[in-house]
Order: sequence, then C-alpha cells, then structure tokens
Amino acid sequence: MSLQGKIAIVTGAGRGIGKATALRLARGGADVAVVDIDASSAEDTAREVQAIGRRTLAQRVDVTQRSEISAFADQVVDQFGHLDVMVANAGIVQVKFWLELDDVDLDRMFAVNIKGVIYSGQAAARHMMGQRSGRIINIASVAAKFGRPLYLHYGASKAAVVNLTRAEAYNLAAYGVTANSVCPGIVDTKMWEYLDEALGRIEGRPKGETIKQRLTTIPMGRLEVPEDVAGVVAFLASDEAGYITGQSVIVDGGTFME
Ligand SMILES: NC(=O)c1ccc[n+]([C@@H]2O[C@H](COP(=O)([O-])OP(=O)(O)OC[C@H]3O[C@@H](n4cnc5c(N)ncnc54)[C@H](O)[C@@H]3O)[C@@H](O)[C@H]2O)c1
Repeated sequence: MSLQGKIAIVTGAGRGIGKATALRLARGGADVAVVDIDASSAEDTAREVQAIGRRTLAQRVDVTQRSEISAFADQVVDQFGHLDVMVANAGIVQVKFWLELDDVDLDRMFAVNIKGVIYSGQAAARHMMGQRSGRIINIASVAAKFGRPLYLHYGASKAAVVNLTRAEAYNLAAYGVTANSVCPGIVDTKMWEYLDEALGRIEGRPKGETIKQRLTTIPMGRLEVPEDVAGVVAFLASDEAGYITGQSVIVDGGTFME
C-alpha cells in the first residue's frame, strides 16, 4: 500500500491522532504538510516527517478560519504542485451537563468540529476537482452513533461530520475524488486524558478509573492507539481504496457494531 508521490495535508497534526496520521502517511511515501492551532507542535511533527525522509511544510492554522486553511492549501499546491489527501482531523471535546451548555460552548464546538471540517474540505476540493483526483478523510467519532449525556454537542458535531462527508462524497464523485469519515473509539491521547478526568469528576470516580471502566467494554481488550486510526486513514488515502466513498469507518476494537 504505497502513498509514493502523494501530497497530503493533516490538520490538528501537532499531537495525538493527527500526528500519528502525518507520520504514517510519510512512512507510506507521502509528502505531508501539517497544521495545528499550536504552531510549535506542528513544527515538531514536521521535523519528524522530515526525519522519515519526506518533504513537509508546517504552519499555525486555526481551522475555524476559512481563509487560513484555504491559503495553506493554496501554498501547498504552489510549493508541491498538487494536493492528493486532506485529513480533517482537528477537533475538540468538552464535558458539560447539557442543560448548562451556553452559546460560547456550542459556537466553539461547532466552529472547530463542523465548520473546520467543511472549510478544510472546501480548501482541498477546489484543487482536487481540477486534478480530477483526491481523497478527503474526515475524523469523526463513534460518538456520532449514540448520544452521551455529558457531551451532547460533541456527539452532535461528529454526527454532522459523518453526514456532511456523505454530501462531500456525492458532490465529488464525478470528479474522481472520494470522501470518507473515520470513527475512532477510545483513543489513548490527551483528549481522553481530559475526558477521563472530567467525566470522573462529575460522576465521582478518581483519575484513571473512567478509562479503566471503559476498557472493559472493548471486545479487543485494549485501548485504541493513534496508530490504529492512522493505518485506516492511510488505507483510505491509497489507490486501493479508490472505489470507497461516502462511508464512515468505525475503528473501535469492536465496541460498537452496526
Ligand atoms: N481521542 C479519542 O478517543 C477520539 C475518539 C474519537 C474521535 N476523536 C477525534 O480525533 C481527532 C483528534 O483527536 P485527538 O485525540 O488526537 O485529540 P488531541 O486533543 O490530542 O489533538 C487535537 C489536535 O487538534 C488541534 N486543534 C484543536 N483545535 C484546533 C483548531 N481550531 N485549528 C487547528 N488545530 C486545532 C490541537 O491543538 C491538537 O494538536 C479529533 O477530531 C477528535 O474528536 C478522538
């Protein structure tokens, strides 16, 4: 499964799933441009991409700003000649009782997790449609599939990602461009470190207990690691996945089966 010659952008690539994905694509042979709202972490990832022997470009981009991600995609095409893969991974989570969610909470969640994904797709699609090839891969979540009492807005945002990915797939199919979403489960990253602590605080469990409890619900018997997600993204980015579009691929060790 080679990604040789492909040019990719990964958003939220400074750590966690985004970083693992950038490095996995680079190991597969792609040149990988990385963005994050945290500039220094994006630069760290870029250095690791370079160490693998691939070309890279790093920039601070806030995906809630359409002009920033759009200008970055243009810069990547100017510098590398084309754009083959957009991984819209940047996302946030927040634990809060649903009756207390205010406009600031909702606006921030939907700006990053929905608008950010739409803007990233638009930025890439303009180039991919012209090339008549490309892959858009949006990172959703199994939280898209069921409601959870303490992060209603996160689950809603991820359900939106699954849905909007299908609309992207319809719009892009005639141009030879695919769009798919990936739905991870409980991935051992800073995001789950926060969830473990925040859910535990509200539900009365000490630090580390929530994640331990959730572990018992995973048939595969281990927590997901960022590389579990990265491998699926690499497959969807490859030529072998050229006839898969509009799908949401659950990668959660068998916890949720549909
Ligand atoms: N960790 C999990 O269990 C899990 C499960 C399902 C889905 N996901 C999704 O996977 C994606 C990555 O999650 P993670 O666990 O690696 O999270 P993380 O918090 O470890 O990393 C997220 C990265 O996105 C960046 N980011 C946040 N807002 C941004 C913005 N506005 N513009 C650009 N970059 C921004 C952060 O700086 C950070 O580097 C998210 O979309 C998340 O919702 C995670």
